Amino acid sequence: MIIRPRRLRASPAMRRLVAETRVHPSQLILPMFVREGLSEPLPISSMPGVVQHCLDSMRRAIAEAAALGVGGVMLFGVPEHRDALGSGATDPEGILNLATRAAVAEAGDALVVQTDLCLDEFTDHGHCGVLDARGRVDNDASLERYRDMGVAQAEAGSQLLGLSGMMDGQVAAVRNALDSAGFTETPLLGYAAKYASAFYGPFREAVQSTLQGDRRTYQLDPANRREGAREVLIDVAEGADVVMVKPAMSYLDVLADASASSPVPVWAYQVSGEYAMIEAAAANGWIDRERAVLESVTSIVRAGADAVLTYYASELARSIRSTV
Ligand code: PBG
Repeated sequence: MIIRPRRLRASPAMRRLVAETRVHPSQLILPMFVREGLSEPLPISSMPGVVQHCLDSMRRAIAEAAALGVGGVMLFGVPEHRDALGSGATDPEGILNLATRAAVAEAGDALVVQTDLCLDEFTDHGHCGVLDARGRVDNDASLERYRDMGVAQAEAGSQLLGLSGMMDGQVAAVRNALDSAGFTETPLLGYAAKYASAFYGPFREAVQSTLQGDRRTYQLDPANRREGAREVLIDVAEGADVVMVKPAMSYLDVLADASASSPVPVWAYQVSGEYAMIEAAAANGWIDRERAVLESVTSIVRAGADAVLTYYASELARSIRSTV
């Protein structure tokens, strides 16, 4: 026997030397929930260790992430009042826009402050767009709301807008609105291949979603790989500066396709349910938590993600720094 692959696995030093994938803190993005009216952070029961932030705790968590070398934060707003149009999303004093200003002031140039551009946290029906007279999600009317939301977020100082609503034409619409308002320099992250996933379950608690039904008329069918690749091409053609695949772990094939075909960076979102599964299994002693966290994010990077949105961003940045 001449060929013995185990030679390169014999010691920690050798394994480290031949590792094909490395996760770096700068490629981690921390999603954060900021809730209106809070004076203290509030735990989210289905996501142990993750909280709904008040403005103060958000600032502290951003300072911590920045000190750990985390690449960015993605802000989600949880408003006190919701209505059919999601008015809070375009209100300059709405919670997400308020939080964005505070976040940018706190972060300085240390990391990239990003905002979720979607109506679902702000609508009383919980859908990502506005509804027509028959109660269906109205694509083109929703685009008008996204345009205004985009400009409000850019005015608040957001450094990258995450378009997660899955309306057709959303990247082109928001790009056009931003450019008309003079925000030609504000980049767009297109949630290109976002699937209608059961793994968003805990997120619905995190943002206190009021959604009845599901999002299957606008998010992708989990069965479809080619369609994910198509959505990536569409978002790139519409001017997306970065594209996203979401969720991550159950969609690594879609991610690998996107990584191979996209001329712009490809990011992936390790979503709330992925986090909750690791936490629940670890709490039962069924898996080694730290190893599972690193392995899960490493697999997402290995599949082709240039950066990963993960609720583990700060924790993982800390543990990576302590081992190198
Ligand atoms: C929609 C949005 C969702 C998530 C991020 N943006 C929920 C959904 O589409 O139902 C889920 C994120 C997660 O589960 O961690 N604005």
